[in-house]
Amino acid sequence: MKEKLLKKFAELFGDAEGVKVYFAPGRVNLIGEHTDYNGGHVFPCALTIGTYGAARKREDHKLHFYSMNFEKAGLLEADADALGEAKESDWTNYPKGVIWAFEKRGFKMPCGMDMVIFGNIPNGSGLSSSASLEVLTGYILRDLYGFDVTNVDLALIGQYAENNYNGMNCGIMDQFASAMGKKDNAIFLDTADLSYEYAPLVLEGAKVVVTNSKVKHSLVNSAYNQRRSECETALSELQKVVDIKGLGDLSEEEFEKHKSAIEDEVRVRRARHAVYENQRTIRAVEALKKNDVKLFGELMNASHVSLRDDYEVSCEEIDILVDEAWKIPGVIGSRITGGGFGGCTVSIVKDEAIDTFQEQLEKAYQEKTGKTAEFYIVEIGDGPYIL
Ligand code: GLA
Repeated sequence: MKEKLLKKFAELFGDAEGVKVYFAPGRVNLIGEHTDYNGGHVFPCALTIGTYGAARKREDHKLHFYSMNFEKAGLLEADADALGEAKESDWTNYPKGVIWAFEKRGFKMPCGMDMVIFGNIPNGSGLSSSASLEVLTGYILRDLYGFDVTNVDLALIGQYAENNYNGMNCGIMDQFASAMGKKDNAIFLDTADLSYEYAPLVLEGAKVVVTNSKVKHSLVNSAYNQRRSECETALSELQKVVDIKGLGDLSEEEFEKHKSAIEDEVRVRRARHAVYENQRTIRAVEALKKNDVKLFGELMNASHVSLRDDYEVSCEEIDILVDEAWKIPGVIGSRITGGGFGGCTVSIVKDEAIDTFQEQLEKAYQEKTGKTAEFYIVEIGDGPYIL
């Protein structure tokens, strides 16, 4: 990968002298979905796939961006002193947003840079290719210009850029998982205060398998932002009767006791998901620590039902993948993962059932949707690094 990027860099900019190559991972979330903007817990892990970038400082204040995934877009130029606003369907919104967010923190680039990237996360799969590009950019800026920020800051800066430059009101999970990933470990993160704990993912005799539905429904960002604002309204209604900072502060019992304060049936379901999903996540991590993978799987299945019925972020294709997976012996748990409305499912599958899982699921999915699913056996990787 390094050679490939350096070669392209030299082709575009004359030579690759002094160029470094960097990597930041994508993520898959095991459980704790749509809890990260509700002060709840999440349990994602970094992948070994993500975004690679070759970069070097320039003498002037120009920014040059080139993506080997969008070669047709060609070499794109911007001015480090006048970034302008995000433009529709322009991948450079992500690196530009991060440069912009660094500036807001008082870290101004003293000069421009050239950057060539290549990502090996399938596009639109919900495995956080955008967060990996944000964390990659932040990591490059820190290395090239010596900006004094931690990896947690890189996650926060990436989220700030996504929220305020790109207009997607995401939580912190994706950027945190990318910036703080640790090989063979999932991250149990409390988004209320960013305290976290690494949990070794020991699944004796089983593996995590991601299945890509290859569908991405339109208006994902607006539907996501709508869910978030429904939760915010539900929270302010609950705050009239109970002293909480986020939906993640409530137990199931407390929620049931106070839910009548929420004045709309849809918002009751949205909030119920946020509260129950957070409690499921806490329980799932406890189960994992006790080597109770079976219970972990049951909680994953319950997470899917809640995301499907109460939060309504699943879709027909994803439900088919999950329903079919549940029928296959050796599947310990299966659910939608990520923001939803398409993308991927995550399943825990016994080693001896992995081949059957792929064959049966591929066949059933093809028959029912006419689409070909793709499978990845998850390897949990580290956060960003220099190659
Ligand atoms: C997207 C967002 C995350 C999180 C998930 C849902 O991936 O970027 O912040 O909210 O959806 O859990």
